Amino acid sequence: MASAAREQWSSRTGFVLAAVGSAVGLGNMWRFSYLAAENGGAAFVIFYVGVTLVVGLPVLLAELVVGRGAQQSPIRALQHFGGPRWKLLGGVFVAAGFLILSYYGVIAGWTVRYGLIVLTEGFGAHAADRFGEIATGWDAFGFHVLFMAVTIGIVAGGVKRGIERTAMLLMPALFVIVAGLAVYATTLHGASAGYAYYLSADVSKLLHWSVLKDAAGQAFFSLSLGMGAMLTFASYLGRDQHLPNESLIIVGADVAIAFLAGLVVFPLIFALGLEARVEASTVGALFITLPQAFAEMGGVGRVVGFAFFAALVVGALTSAISLLEVVVASAIDGLGWSRRRAALVSGTAITLLGTPSAWSTDVLGVVDQIANNLFLLGGGLALSVFVGWFMRDPVAEARAGAHGVPWFFLWRWLLRFAVPIFLIFVLWFAVPETWHAIRGLFAS
Ligand code: PHE
Repeated sequence: MASAAREQWSSRTGFVLAAVGSAVGLGNMWRFSYLAAENGGAAFVIFYVGVTLVVGLPVLLAELVVGRGAQQSPIRALQHFGGPRWKLLGGVFVAAGFLILSYYGVIAGWTVRYGLIVLTEGFGAHAADRFGEIATGWDAFGFHVLFMAVTIGIVAGGVKRGIERTAMLLMPALFVIVAGLAVYATTLHGASAGYAYYLSADVSKLLHWSVLKDAAGQAFFSLSLGMGAMLTFASYLGRDQHLPNESLIIVGADVAIAFLAGLVVFPLIFALGLEARVEASTVGALFITLPQAFAEMGGVGRVVGFAFFAALVVGALTSAISLLEVVVASAIDGLGWSRRRAALVSGTAITLLGTPSAWSTDVLGVVDQIANNLFLLGGGLALSVFVGWFMRDPVAEARAGAHGVPWFFLWRWLLRFAVPIFLIFVLWFAVPETWHAIRGLFAS
């Protein structure tokens, strides 16, 4: 039962900015750039945009439709439309929220730390070498705890006063900073090599399935799909909202920020001749090369570096909020807890679950793979099958607030056939690879 006092967004802009805030995050800047570097630049970008439009967009709309239709958090929403059997999928969503936020908080902690360093002391000669000291151990854990405490505080504040207000305040700032940095990057000597790398496709990579797999994982991660974050946010919407339009805005903003972030990162790296380090890419690539770049730029580097990390922190925060909200909303709806209690208890549990990731970047990388390759892609597959085949009349639900949109039949068709077939294909490769990574971790 939906409680009578369920909160709603106070404005359309509030919802859109919160949803864009969920989408835009470390995925757009940290993950997108390192995957693009690893997968031959533009080859990856092309696949990523394609998958986002053909697979991501329909799944996003499906999440919004289920969430708004049910006006409940994932477990109950799936039960509402699918009966008790589908509760399990909601449970998997909540588990994914736990898992992702546990390591996301650790990386977010790095960004806070880097931002503080660049502000207070600047990066010195050995900027690159500091990654090891910052990324693991008590240092990493401490900043993870700090970041999680802020996230918990905001989510405890409620949908309107906590989540929506934060997004309204911070998201416009993020856009301005990233756009400003992209403009600044054009002035760097040697930037053109970066653009060339980023914008011209390495055709030999274009035909490799693993690029497609990484692009699919990235599309889901970046749009916050496959674990109920968008579903939960949509559960605070009214029936007059035009969901197809909102989906397009969210996708457009997310792709735009990822693309802009690439226009910042690649010129910086190439202008300073640091590309060799990036090609040997790992989760730490950006955190190793960029501080080095900022250090070599001298005084300007401190300003630019601070702006860059500030944008990362903002993006991470608004995304972490949405991850925690999935768990918190589920605890409120399912266990009858107060919002404050739910935020504090689940947030603390997630923080502790991040401990192994805070002590080893190898563990962090594997957890990231598990979350993406198994949870998000698998969750997206299950959700598209659910909405495409099991939910009664999803089109009617989608049409509420969006009369006159002619392509709902296409949406349904994509969810029924194209999206599941594509995701099964990707999972076919992604599952063994993840299994391999897990075994590798235990073998080492
Ligand atoms: N979309 C976020 C990012 O790009 C991460 C995220 C994934 C948030 C899944 C919520 C759910 O950083």
